[in-house]
Amino acid sequence: MRHLMSPLDLSVEELDELLKLAGDIEKHPEKYAHACEGKKLATCFYEPSTRTRLSFEAAMLNLGGSVLGFHSADSSSAAKGESVSDTIRVISCYADICAIRHPKEGAALVASQKSGIPVINAGDGGHQHPTQTLTDLLTIYNLKGRCDHLKIGLCGDLKFGRTVHSLINALIRYPGIEFVLVSPEELRVPSYIRTDVLEANDIPFCEMEKLEDAIGDLDILYMTRVQRERFFNEEDYVRMKDFYILDNKKMALAKEDMLVLHPLPRVNEIAIEVDDDPRAVYFKQAQYGVYVRMALILTLLGIKVDS
Ligand code: CP
Repeated sequence: MRHLMSPLDLSVEELDELLKLAGDIEKHPEKYAHACEGKKLATCFYEPSTRTRLSFEAAMLNLGGSVLGFHSADSSSAAKGESVSDTIRVISCYADICAIRHPKEGAALVASQKSGIPVINAGDGGHQHPTQTLTDLLTIYNLKGRCDHLKIGLCGDLKFGRTVHSLINALIRYPGIEFVLVSPEELRVPSYIRTDVLEANDIPFCEMEKLEDAIGDLDILYMTRVQRERFFNEEDYVRMKDFYILDNKKMALAKEDMLVLHPLPRVNEIAIEVDDDPRAVYFKQAQYGVYVRMALILTLLGIKVDS
């Protein structure tokens, strides 16, 4: 039985297979329409979500399976004090696979250790969000034709943004990757990412504060929102929240083929006017999230669909 806690749980070869499978699902959805008949996905979300939960549910429904679950801690027995470990043991009696989101780092790992079914980390605190990374990689692969030899700007809340941490971990395994980390001083990547991941693997990177200084050289700009829910006080959030606003004036400084990704939800960090720029691909990215989660469900359940 396999779980997905981090993008590193999949080798680069397995990732490539998964991206190819997602591509085939996009082209031939009818082939996969009954692949999970009789199977159930549980979505156990202790934190709010639109994309991750609903794209997981859409993915399982597209595969002919069924879904069950809860969308907040308050609507589950967590509100009565039940532990994640006990909850997953019970969910294992009801479902074949589970996607779990929790505000605490490591909660999905704890669940996987007690689970009788594959567990997918759908976001654990400020730590990791591996299925967003699969979505991001599929977007980059499909729209750039490769995941290697790219200069990638990561902009915004690099401290609390779990999508950034997972994406850095995944991309350093591809050759020729260079990062430009654009954030205010207080929201820089955690030191474990800088030292244990980037420096330890000799990955070229630089840190900047002004997006205008970075944007002209980038192949990919990955924007993130300031993670209000991870701040200890509202004042700090208010001070930081509009630090970056990508608008058409800044887009004019970028390469013609630079892509703008964002895991969404967006708050103010990308002006609405940018949505009409063909380089803005964040809504396409959300669509790719369904295909890649379909591929992941099939992979973790060990279901092969003959061509
Ligand atoms: N990208 C992402 O995780 O979005 P949700 O919080 O809406 O799931």
